[in-house]
Amino acid sequence: MNKKLIAPSLLAADFANLQRDIEMVNNSEADWFHLDVMDGLFVPNISFGMPVIKAIAKHTKKPLDTHLMIVDPDRYIKDFANLGVNSLTVHYEACTHLHRTLQAIKIEGMKAGVALNPHTSVYVLEEVINDIDLVLIMSVNPGFGGQSFIENTYKKIKQLKELIITHNATTVIEVDGGVNNDNAKKLIEAGADVLVAGSFIFGSKEPTKTIADLKNSIA
Ligand code: DX5
Ligand code: ZN
Repeated sequence: MNKKLIAPSLLAADFANLQRDIEMVNNSEADWFHLDVMDGLFVPNISFGMPVIKAIAKHTKKPLDTHLMIVDPDRYIKDFANLGVNSLTVHYEACTHLHRTLQAIKIEGMKAGVALNPHTSVYVLEEVINDIDLVLIMSVNPGFGGQSFIENTYKKIKQLKELIITHNATTVIEVDGGVNNDNAKKLIEAGADVLVAGSFIFGSKEPTKTIADLKNSIA
C-alpha cells in the first residue's frame, strides 16, 4: 500500500460526547475509524458492541475498521457485515480454525484481518498470508488504551513485511497501541501501512490538528 493511513481508535473518545467525536473524525484527515470490541474473556476489559457500532455507522463517513478482541468471533461475522463494517479483524490467538474464519469474513464482503498479540510470532501466519487482507500487529497487550509502546514491534513489522514480499501477497500491515508522534515515522519506515492511535489523538488539545500532524509525519 503506497498511501499510509491513520485510524483513530474510538476507545479513547468521550462516550458521553460520541457524536461530537465522530464528527471530529469525519471532518479530519483520518482515513479509517478503528473500533475495539472487547468481551471481558479474551481480554480483561469490556468495551462496546453491536448497538453502539450501529449508531456509529449511521454517522461516520470513514470506513469502519473493526478489531475483535473476543473469543470465538465466528459467531458474529454476519452481524458485523450487516452493520456495514468494512474490515473485520480477529485475533490469531482466539481462532482454532483461522483459515475457515478468514473465508467466512470474505464471503460476507468484508476485508479479513488477523491481529497478533505481542508474544505471537508473525511466522504463524505463513500458511495463510495470501488469504489475509490485513495483519494488525499489537504494539501493546490488547485490552486497554493508553499503554506504552513495545519496542520489539519494529522487528515484527520488518519480519512480516519480508514474509508478505516473499509470498507475493498484498496484505496491509496495521499497528495498534501506544502510537504517537515519536514512533509513527519509524513504524512506517519499518513497513507499516496503517497506524491506529487512540489516546494520543483524543487526549490531545486539538485532535483534528493531531491527526493532520500524524498524517504529515508519515506522508
Ligand atoms: C487496545 C486497542 C487499541 C487502543 C489503542 O487493546 O486495540 O486500539 O484503543 O489505544 P492507544 O493508542 O491509546 O494505545
Ligand atoms: Zn484496536
